[in-house]
Amino acid sequence: MCGIVGYIGTQKASPILINGLIRLEYRGYDSAGISTIEKEGLSIMKDQGRVKNLYSLDGINNLEGTIGIAHTRWATHGKPSKENSHPHLDNSKTFGVVHNGIIENYNELRENLNKKGYTFYSETDTEVIPNLIHYYYTKEAKKDLSGFLQAVKNACSELKGSFALEIICKHYPDNMIVVRKDSPLVIGKGENENYISSDIPAILSFTKNFYLINDLEYCILSRNNAQFYDKDLNPIKKETKSIEWNASSAEKDGFEDYMLKEIYEQPIAIRETVGARLFENSKCTFDELNFTKEYLKNINKIYIVACGTAMHAGLVGKNMIEKLCRIQTEVDVASEFRYRNPLIDEKTLCIFISQSGETADTIAALKLSKEKGAKTLAITNVIGSSITREADYSLYTHAGPEIAVASTKAYTSQVILFATLSIYFAETLEVNNSSIATLKNDILELPKKIEDTLKISENVKDFAKQVYQEKDIFFLGRGIDETVAREGSLKLKEISYIHAESYPAGELKHGPIALIENGITVVGVVTDKDLLEKSVSNIQEVITRGAKTLIITNQNLDDKMFNEVINIPCTNSLLSPILSIIPLQLFSYYIAKEKGLDVDKPRNLAKSVTVE
Ligand code: F6R
Repeated sequence: MCGIVGYIGTQKASPILINGLIRLEYRGYDSAGISTIEKEGLSIMKDQGRVKNLYSLDGINNLEGTIGIAHTRWATHGKPSKENSHPHLDNSKTFGVVHNGIIENYNELRENLNKKGYTFYSETDTEVIPNLIHYYYTKEAKKDLSGFLQAVKNACSELKGSFALEIICKHYPDNMIVVRKDSPLVIGKGENENYISSDIPAILSFTKNFYLINDLEYCILSRNNAQFYDKDLNPIKKETKSIEWNASSAEKDGFEDYMLKEIYEQPIAIRETVGARLFENSKCTFDELNFTKEYLKNINKIYIVACGTAMHAGLVGKNMIEKLCRIQTEVDVASEFRYRNPLIDEKTLCIFISQSGETADTIAALKLSKEKGAKTLAITNVIGSSITREADYSLYTHAGPEIAVASTKAYTSQVILFATLSIYFAETLEVNNSSIATLKNDILELPKKIEDTLKISENVKDFAKQVYQEKDIFFLGRGIDETVAREGSLKLKEISYIHAESYPAGELKHGPIALIENGITVVGVVTDKDLLEKSVSNIQEVITRGAKTLIITNQNLDDKMFNEVINIPCTNSLLSPILSIIPLQLFSYYIAKEKGLDVDKPRNLAKSVTVE
């Protein structure tokens, strides 16, 4: 999705802005642009295509301004084009704006501004914003910084939808105004300079101290200050938050791609996420939660709500919570949940998972649950992300920044967090379950087994070379393996653009088997001992019909039956999704590489889906 960068300081802004945009490239975009305040007024350099194309724009090297705004656009209103790229200026070229989000009432605002004599040069929703600010500024009696702020506030109060905005004005070369609503934005504090970004990794090499802004808080930035205001423009104080991530964790560190690096970071991500929460001989602790036995006993239902891969982690979480705690748990896709008037009340616990913590549907689902009286718990990887500011409780996975669009280490970290959370619930409920002690031990042994799995999983590369030109690939599994089949199939379609489908293996006969023909590729996940024979017999059915098979298993199977078998280590059945997904992550990765695709930035996808 769109990315925002801003700079105000003592250095030339343009290289810093372009550098920041390059670091935001992973979010997905189709055009890029910057605007700085120069002696002659606002400069504007933008075009469709890659950020690096900005370097070839006429005059870009002559920019001297030390304040500027920048943007990568992911088209929503209007096709990717130079005109639709941000920044956008008002008609008088006084105000420059970059915007992340969607203005839902832009048509109406546009018509009103048209009537007032304003002209529009793009098809975007954003262009109404600088013009609205201009309109209000001309009506302001005070032509000073406070008038500028008031004009921004008046404009924002007309906007319906979501926005993160950076605004510069040619009359105020020493200031920038930023504001956000339902769209991410952080401010990084430096020495005599301030940075703005949609997310932390983009400016991590400049600072580790961040101001987190809440919805409808305004900030006037100068080179050595950040003055915050609430929605009514009353001044408020904010402290910076220091972030533990180091800059190198957002670099490739010798790996060819971020995705590969992140797949290989899973042992450490799991270790860090389990952290000090779990030890072999003591109770599992979550200092962030204060759930009592009484509270957990009275829960009528747990909902786990998320999108995409995070939702798949939720499916594994459901299995854990139901097995260990016997609390009914439902998993739902956030974009469905929020529109189907779900049956929730004050006895429901709603858990929301989001790596980025910025996914629009997940946040909306959380807000809805709160309105209905449910307790809300967010699981995210990004400190201070929007979701943490809405939820009653927040738990962090400690996967470090995930840059590749396809989620890998965030998924396994979410799953391990669910394992520890389920143990915490079970121990608080005083569930008499001897398997908990074994599970704890298995969790502690898991990072080493992930390392072993990574080594074994490299064998999948040869099979990937054989099948990378396929049009369709099917994924099968039963029980917990079915959730892994879903995630494997999602990973493959995301980065290889191969049509991939996953099915509960038992469903084959009810339709999908009609699609199996000679030479088709089928991936089977077989780790559940209790369902072993049934899974194998389903796979046998596709082999009989000519399918080529890749099997991920920790069971003793007859390797000769299949084209490729990846034998992963045995672990607790609740944890097996963390190991069995690894060969499938690498399978997708090597297929995409064979096809020569950009694995980190697959087409049409964005890392952080901040609009509905
Ligand atoms: C898949 C993927 C997406 C995200 C989904 C939710 O690899 O990354 O399916 O899982 O967009 O994103 P978050 O977790 O940021 O809410």
